[in-house]
Amino acid sequence: MADEPLVLGIETSCDETGVGVVRGTTLLADAIASSVDEHARFGGVVPEVASRAHLEAMVPTIERALKQAGVAASDLDGVAVTAGPGLAGALLVGVSAAKAYAYALGKPLYGVNHLASHICVDQLEHGPLPEPTMALLVSGGHSSLLLAPDITNDVRPMGATIDDAAGEAFDKIARVLDLGFPGGPVIDRLAREGDPKAIAFPRGLTGPRDAAYDFSFSGLKTSVARWIEAKRSAGEEVPVRDVAASFQEAVVDVLTRKAVRACKDEGVDHLMIGGGVAANSRLRALAQERCERAGIRLRVPRPGLCTDNGAMVAALGAEMVARGRAASDWDLSADSSLPVTEPHVPGTGHGHPHDHDHVHEMSKDNLYS
Ligand code: KG4
Ligand code: ZN
Repeated sequence: MADEPLVLGIETSCDETGVGVVRGTTLLADAIASSVDEHARFGGVVPEVASRAHLEAMVPTIERALKQAGVAASDLDGVAVTAGPGLAGALLVGVSAAKAYAYALGKPLYGVNHLASHICVDQLEHGPLPEPTMALLVSGGHSSLLLAPDITNDVRPMGATIDDAAGEAFDKIARVLDLGFPGGPVIDRLAREGDPKAIAFPRGLTGPRDAAYDFSFSGLKTSVARWIEAKRSAGEEVPVRDVAASFQEAVVDVLTRKAVRACKDEGVDHLMIGGGVAANSRLRALAQERCERAGIRLRVPRPGLCTDNGAMVAALGAEMVARGRAASDWDLSADSSLPVTEPHVPGTGHGHPHDHDHVHEMSKDNLYS
């Protein structure tokens, strides 16, 4: 609908330069430039390399997104950007770009939370999020279980990893098996031909005294690495497919078990799963099976919307506009550890985004002349 807010979203918290355009809950464009290949030989994201890549990709990616959406920058109702959490230098590139565009265009700026964006993106695929929604966010940078009564201003942490993120565990095990980076997709593929019951790897934090909703993957990682090492030093061949399947099963068993338990305990009948690891085929299948058994509706966006992207930021920005949330101040800063309890960074409202007359004057005289 034409009266729904049209928002541009910019995401630069890690290695993806994402720019999305959303109208209400409709996705119009999702442009992305990734520096993942530049990090591959290091086996992980190198912050300085990511920042430089964002800087180079920023303007072309914004232009590509606007073109794809078939809208003019002047039609936008706001510019949203990931303010955190993420890599400080990488975030800064996005925040600076968002400020420049918003200011030049005379549009309000919305600094939003990366994690809340991962949840909100599902609106683009499955329509408005039920309130409350339980969300399991699993990626290379995060593993969190969140309760979202209102995605624009009430997101509560239920649990999180106490050591490695789920995706990080996939990446590390892939490295031990010499499978390259990122590890998730290749382990997923090999696991399909392996036996998930071949090796009984440990399920972290599942004892009766353990925190009900927290995760731990470092013990699992060590256990898998030791198992492989033992095979190698005995001169035996490592059954890569069985290791992949058994390791993957240990991860997704714990993730789905805890997510479903949180839903039951809180009386929530919707679970969404987001983040790069949500692309995992076994995670999707097991979550579906366990949710069905528990009478919970499962919502998982398609893989392209699960990994970091600009559309998710635009989706949350549009929701902020639709619900009349306060825009951010022009001195909005990137916050590498922005708490998950802050879906966006509201401004104090003193002397700015809505000061459009001044902005238009400035943009005419200084920027487009
Ligand atoms: O969300 P994302 O693109 O970036 C962040 O880390 O924020 O997620 C990337 C992570 C990587 O650790 C990658 O190995 C993992 O998601 N991943 C997967 C799969 N596809 C990507 N993990 C398991 N199975 C997959 N199919
Ligand atoms: Zn992410």
